[in-house]
Amino acid sequence: MLCLTLTGSTLEENRCQVEQNRRWISLVELRLDHLNADEQKIASSFPSTVDLPVILTFRRTSDGGACTVGERERLQILYETAKGDYAYVDIEEDVKRSDLKFKDPLFEQKVDFERSLRERGIRIIRSLHDFTCVPADIYGRISKLASKGDIPKVAVTPKSMIDIICLFRVQTELSAIKDKIIIGMGEFGICTRLLYKKCGSTLTFCSDSQAAPGHLSARTMSELYRADKVDEKTHVFGIIGNPVYHTASPRIHNPGFEAIHYNAIYVPFLVDSVRAFFKLAEMLQIHGFSVTVPHKRNVQPYLGRITREVKQIGACNTVTRIQNMWKGTNTDYYGFLAPIADDIAQEKIRTALVIGAGGASRAVVWALHNHGIKVTILNRGVEKARQLAGETMSSYDSLEKAGLYSRLFDLVVQTTSVGMEPHLHEDPVPSFIFRGDEIVYELVYQPRETPFFRRATLAGCRVVGGAQMLLEQGKLQFEAFSGYHYPHWITPEI
Ligand code: ATR
Repeated sequence: MLCLTLTGSTLEENRCQVEQNRRWISLVELRLDHLNADEQKIASSFPSTVDLPVILTFRRTSDGGACTVGERERLQILYETAKGDYAYVDIEEDVKRSDLKFKDPLFEQKVDFERSLRERGIRIIRSLHDFTCVPADIYGRISKLASKGDIPKVAVTPKSMIDIICLFRVQTELSAIKDKIIIGMGEFGICTRLLYKKCGSTLTFCSDSQAAPGHLSARTMSELYRADKVDEKTHVFGIIGNPVYHTASPRIHNPGFEAIHYNAIYVPFLVDSVRAFFKLAEMLQIHGFSVTVPHKRNVQPYLGRITREVKQIGACNTVTRIQNMWKGTNTDYYGFLAPIADDIAQEKIRTALVIGAGGASRAVVWALHNHGIKVTILNRGVEKARQLAGETMSSYDSLEKAGLYSRLFDLVVQTTSVGMEPHLHEDPVPSFIFRGDEIVYELVYQPRETPFFRRATLAGCRVVGGAQMLLEQGKLQFEAFSGYHYPHWITPEI
């Protein structure tokens, strides 16, 4: 179940948020602490106006909320508001039972808040928040929170892959506790939100306003990831990197899986330790994953088989599970070749100039070299160019001399990060002059048009953009992951 956290300052604003998200969510959480004081007084009526189960929460600042009144007053307001038709009321782990007894003019004796909720069939969520770490005794604490039949909720902050493993282990360690809510907050925790069912969590939260660190929108959770559709049979795929959330790959694979009705999800994993990730991959029975910077080299010691390209390039961007062994391939290599394959086959490309000698350049130079094309490499740091040229029997020179190589090549490939943020307005080879009939390949895809791309287009060249390569390599990964061709009838938004 996806639960939308409502953080509007008025009930009307919250009702609008519900309507905008209704098709993706199963329940909502009303955050009293975000309502202004007048609206708090009438919030007991809220559930009867939204036609969805509502969790009532009044979060203290120490737990990431915005409640500024004293503790006594906070609990009193929670008690009064809970008289409405709420499905769940959230009470924090450390609130003592003795603090939950209230005088009520309707009754002679003090009312036991918890008992009155239970008698009315309202479930209590007992919540624990930690914005610094995953507490060492987390399993014990979850058990304790669940001991009175309440729903334990832990929202903690994983800081490493080891912490992530700890959260996913909740499912096996505490499988006897049926209803529980497990949330990993912050950047590391995003995979626990998307795979909340694999953590044994009954629901997960989302919001349009990042109400908590790591929240995604309900639309993203539901339409892009289909997180609420994950079940026992769902094949888990993903991408590992650091950073990882900028990558377009989830927007290639998830819509692809959906289009061919393949029960699978593709999740970004922020990974600090490749070794720990392989442990998680075994735990979750991950079927395959993409690899991005800085792990393309780091994964290699864990692979049982690698292809010739991975060995040559020294980088692996795709890992799949083959007969209980991890196999590493490099789809950057073939993704690069795809848009120019016909030109190579027709021998329209015999010579190539490759600008840059970093990781991306290695895949490009090896792909061209393996197809019999004579390559010249230009790089700012000449030593790196010299080394790659030595491996691939290419020529090399310094980037400053680019002008001397004008008009000489059938193909010019730009592989450096110049043209991307923060070098948006720069051209790596301003002195280089295009002939006009050569093919130009710009690997940068964000932005779509770099100064180099524009200059080549103006000169009349056929220019291939990095988005095409990204998509081609993604389609090949999709085939390696699913065993099916990428559906030709969809166009991913990358
Ligand atoms: P990637 O995996 O994207 O190729 P990389 O391995 O860090 O990333 O390589 C970056 C490439 O961009 C290198 O060729 C780098 O040149 P150096 O080896 O001399 O560093 C090149 N590059 C980055 N910033 C540059 C700049 N401002 N001017 C020229 N080249 C630059």
